[in-house]
Amino acid sequence: MKQMQTLTQAAHTQAAHTQGHGQAHEKASETGAPKDGAAPRTRKVFVKTYGCQMNVYDSERMSDALFKDGYQKTDNPEDADLLLLNTCHIREKAAEKVYSELGRIRQLKEALAEQGRELMVGVAGCVAQAEGQEIIRRAPIVDVVIGPQTYHRLPQAIARARLGEKVVDTDYAVEDKFEHLPKADKKTISSRGVSAFLTVQEGCDKFCTFCVVPYTRGSEVSRSVQQIEREAQSLVDAGVREITLLGQNVNAWHGHGADGREWGLGELLRLLCGIDGLERLRYTTSHPRDMDEALIDAHRDLDKVMPYLHLPVQAGSDRVLKAMNRRHTAQDYLRLIERIRAARPDIALSGDFIVGFPGETDADFEETIQLVEKVRYAQAFSFKYSPRPGTPGADRDDHVPEDIKAKRLERLQKLLRQHQVEFAENCIGKTIDLLLEKPGREPGQLIGRSPWLQPVIVDAKPSQIGDIIKVRITRTGTNSLYADCV
Ligand code: 5AD
Ligand code: SF4
Repeated sequence: MKQMQTLTQAAHTQAAHTQGHGQAHEKASETGAPKDGAAPRTRKVFVKTYGCQMNVYDSERMSDALFKDGYQKTDNPEDADLLLLNTCHIREKAAEKVYSELGRIRQLKEALAEQGRELMVGVAGCVAQAEGQEIIRRAPIVDVVIGPQTYHRLPQAIARARLGEKVVDTDYAVEDKFEHLPKADKKTISSRGVSAFLTVQEGCDKFCTFCVVPYTRGSEVSRSVQQIEREAQSLVDAGVREITLLGQNVNAWHGHGADGREWGLGELLRLLCGIDGLERLRYTTSHPRDMDEALIDAHRDLDKVMPYLHLPVQAGSDRVLKAMNRRHTAQDYLRLIERIRAARPDIALSGDFIVGFPGETDADFEETIQLVEKVRYAQAFSFKYSPRPGTPGADRDDHVPEDIKAKRLERLQKLLRQHQVEFAENCIGKTIDLLLEKPGREPGQLIGRSPWLQPVIVDAKPSQIGDIIKVRITRTGTNSLYADCV
């Protein structure tokens, strides 16, 4: 079916695009329930995920909730009874992309209807939150619109939609959605592999003037120590060896420890390090202002905390940082990096950059280049500023022309790429621990991650997936390293 192919192709294109909070993914997930009166038949769900790692995690949790309702996963949209788009609003014409995708889905829905099959369509995530009712107005084929803070009510929303109602559920819940989500069982967690995400914090109170997150994800909320520990333990019980703690401002996480004191992320990492069988911990994304002493100490003291830190600075000019409401200077950031490197000399740094924020001059941009030269990131994401409706940046009248943004981005990315290659080349000859994650492209190969998050290709047996082995890096590939077992 032509429209089907287009949808799958579009999904793959999206998967190739990366963004600051991590690699974008497109994943299909599942669900199913018996139809009234008829012989029980399994309903299937196809989930397409856009954007950051938190959306990947959210898609998994939504799928878990649907599994409990009897749904199953399908990788083929033509096979689905429910098609769910988990959307991202952080940059570019996100809403428009969703509407054009919905145009393609409409054709599919009509084609399936001709065969007597019903396809329910749901839009979740940050575009759902930002657009709400407007989505149903512009794309009447949509049955359910559900926000990132309300997706624990997805099964009920779908049940209502099956009775013919158009459901828009984006009101921020005061209740804790995590408490209302079903616990994933061992089987569903196992499908997540040896490295899993765990959301510990959500939302943001920082209000950077370019960013839509405080409006779509709401204000900062931390999950409790107990909830996090329980979820981490069940991930490990299902075979997970590495956990990446997620939060829009993950290092602003705080909670009450068993000792009755207020804990920060450093203390939380220390606790999680005590879980037997959990070998590696990572966290993302951090704000420079929330990088406290205890967290830096965790990098110094805890072997399980990987020597990798994503610490976006966005720009190198104090004038631009101020206009962005980042509330620190370039010098503050550089001093912080010095302290982190003193605690953990082999740490790999990663960052996010925005070029062409309104009012950014050539001289401002030169200061970004200088900062990058000083830090020498192992890896980084960089973007042209894109005005987000409703944010203070979008209302400014001194926008930078597109061609200037493009030129600045090209220059910055060339430099960042050069540093990334240097970092990778420096790894050649080193013996490192490698967590084997999945089969490689060639038979007999496995792909793992280095402590610095680089993909590493090595000859090993499929039965070794989940093992941490010693390898010696022999050469670099385009975006990966090659290694021999030692
Ligand atoms: N324009 C361009 N980039 C943006 N980011 C966030 N908002 C915008 C925007 N309006 C980038 C920031 C952030 C990353 C996740 O996305 O660099 O750290
Ligand atoms: Fe957005 Fe700034 Fe909050 Fe990060 S800290 S989510 S960039 S507002």
